[in-house]
Amino acid sequence: MLTQKMIQRLNEQVNLEMYSSNIYLAMSAWCANKGLNGSAAFLKDHSKEELSHAYKIFDYINETGAMATIEQINKPQSEFTSLQDVFEKTYNHELVVSKSILELVDVALSEKDYSTFNFLQWYVSEQHEEEKLFKEILDKFEIIGMEGRGLFMIDREIAALLR
Ligand code: FEO
Repeated sequence: MLTQKMIQRLNEQVNLEMYSSNIYLAMSAWCANKGLNGSAAFLKDHSKEELSHAYKIFDYINETGAMATIEQINKPQSEFTSLQDVFEKTYNHELVVSKSILELVDVALSEKDYSTFNFLQWYVSEQHEEEKLFKEILDKFEIIGMEGRGLFMIDREIAALLR
């Protein structure tokens, strides 16, 4: 059985994951509008993945007999200065999500909720993968550069990361 504090923090995480989904969907639209179809496909796919992160917590809350609550989701940014700006923002956003997950882990421990602590381990590992993935993309901007066909090549490389 979850404590009220745990329920509230898990529900906030559901909201953050849904917000993440919308952030990446808005970025996908921006990329599609600029003809960056590889990045658009990658970000749309990642938007779906974020929804699966939200649903996993949603199901967990409901399975415990508590009730997941759906709140208003903040409007995501829709304009960016460049593709590099898009992916700098994805990486920074993932750092925010990681921090939030670690705070959730702290709450689980302080509430002596070892079941939720165990459940959250999947998210701890996932955030490691998410940070690694977006850092890898940022590195491509440094390695390939934006000169000449650089942007085209980066977009193609990002499309190849679709998982
Ligand atoms: Fe659900 Fe990308 O963190």
